[in-house]
Amino acid sequence: MAPRSRTRTPLTFTLRRATLDDADLLVRHRLAMFREMGDRSERAIARHGTAYLAWMIPKIASAEMVAWIADDPAGRPVGSGAVWFQPSQPRPGFDDLRVPYLLSVYTDPRARGAGVATAMVERALALAKRLGYARVSLHASQMGRRVYERLGFQTTTELRYWIDPVQRRREARRRAAEAAAREPSPAPRIKTAGRSARART
Ligand SMILES: CC(C)(COP(=O)(O)OP(=O)(O)OC[C@H]1O[C@@H](n2cnc3c(N)ncnc32)[C@H](O)[C@@H]1OP(=O)(O)O)[C@@H](O)C(=O)NCCC(=O)NCCS
Repeated sequence: MAPRSRTRTPLTFTLRRATLDDADLLVRHRLAMFREMGDRSERAIARHGTAYLAWMIPKIASAEMVAWIADDPAGRPVGSGAVWFQPSQPRPGFDDLRVPYLLSVYTDPRARGAGVATAMVERALALAKRLGYARVSLHASQMGRRVYERLGFQTTTELRYWIDPVQRRREARRRAAEAAAREPSPAPRIKTAGRSARART
């Protein structure tokens, strides 16, 4: 792929397909992604590295998962992302027994806004299309959502039930915080004849 640049950040980069030699880097980027998402404990993230590495290696080796690394002009990795051809059940009209699932999309903070993640997702979409798949799915972080939506990803009808009560409470807190962040901030209280009232906006 030709190096790509956008006006906001003058960084240029090239994308290459990851090999097993990149396994440690892919793990590092995944852990950094979870750290930035901020909703997992450091202990859980640190422990996840070993499990993810063991899970990923055979998948990269067999091409059940394909990952890309973005390198800057000096050859330093500045981002990565992957697509896993995840087993799935057949559905009417869709005989695919796998669904391409995008995961571990991460860009180093100093390379953000230059289109690294967008290029990575486009590369995964192109591969999935070339292999004849009908759709690609993912779970988006708050930061990633706009990248995906701009490329045409749509929210689906997937629902989730947490059996684990700790996770259920965590999810409830996360949703409450998200809802609060979406609420317009309350108008300042003003005094009117001894009573306080909300300012009209
Ligand atoms: C989300 C992320 C991968 C985007 O990487 P990137 O290479 O900067 O993305 P691109 O340059 O292709 O696109 C930039 C877009 O990312 C989004 N974005 C980047 N940083 C953001 C932030 N702090 N808050 C919200 N959106 C952000 C914006 O939509 C931005 O669009 P803009 O350039 O018009 O402002 C990167 O910010 C990142 O690694 N974040 C932490 C890990 C993460 O959340 N990964 C996604 C997992 S689903």
